Amino acid sequence: MLKIIMHGCCGAMGHAICKLCKDNDEFTVVAGVDKITECDEYDFPIFGSPAECDVDFDVIIDFSNKSAVDAITDYAVAKGKPIVCCTTALTEETVSHLKEASKVIPVFKSANMSVGINVMVELVKTATKALYKDCDIEIVEAHHHRKLDAPSGTALMIADAAKSAMTDEAEYVYDRHSVNEARKHNQIGISSIRGGNIVGEHEIMFISDEETVSISHSAKTRDVFAKGSLIAAAFVKNAAPGMYDMSDVISKAFES
Ligand SMILES: NC(=O)c1ccc[n+]([C@@H]2O[C@H](COP(=O)([O-])OP(=O)(O)OC[C@H]3O[C@@H](n4cnc5c(N)ncnc54)[C@H](O)[C@@H]3O)[C@@H](O)[C@H]2O)c1
Repeated sequence: MLKIIMHGCCGAMGHAICKLCKDNDEFTVVAGVDKITECDEYDFPIFGSPAECDVDFDVIIDFSNKSAVDAITDYAVAKGKPIVCCTTALTEETVSHLKEASKVIPVFKSANMSVGINVMVELVKTATKALYKDCDIEIVEAHHHRKLDAPSGTALMIADAAKSAMTDEAEYVYDRHSVNEARKHNQIGISSIRGGNIVGEHEIMFISDEETVSISHSAKTRDVFAKGSLIAAAFVKNAAPGMYDMSDVISKAFES
């Protein structure tokens, strides 16, 4: 049984993961850490800060806020245990902090824990290599109205995948409103929609004069991210120190 500390246990993703772990034979949440410490639904203790948490565990799963990631990373290092960091919109300093931590513990970081999205990212690299010369690349993403960051971390992950397969230096364009000029070929346009309870929609379009190729992903429920984070937790439990992401989990699917 893999013992999890759920960082951000009182949020939407925290709830989805704790629900999946309830009556589960492989995973159990042994403690939560959240700035909200009142929650009647849970039978495990909730601590207001990592320093207060004295419960034995195997892996930390983090879905919280970018401001909280450095402290939980330090806690993982102090305990010598792996962390699965799923929080998005991290600053460069926090990403560096995670990389530093990965010298001594396994750090799994992905802006999208869905296996499907990570397969999409691999397809995007292949499509960009084949199509980029004659087409313009545009990405559109949609999320629920509570989401704080825009564009989504996943849209940036998709853009980075396209960029890595381009022959020119890519330029990301988030807002055409303020620029009165024609689109340049090396640009990747990224547009965001926010509304209702949309879990997560991503589409990348390769648009030439003659055709449009589009690759899209639609998350129907938060469970897709919750399940992915549990797969990641099992993956890092006995891993060597280092940085990992979903491509390490799905790489076997692309080997054959
Ligand atoms: N990687 C992925 O696949 C993926 C999927 C969904 C969401 N996310 C990201 O995960 C994060 C959380 O998403 P959510 O939808 O659960 O958000 P949410 O707002 O519903 O939950 C966030 C939780 O973190 C807690 N929190 C905030 N600041 C804190 C602090 N300083 N210390 C401790 N706890 C704190 C909040 O109280 C809340 O319970 C966001 O960054 C989101 O973009 C990532």
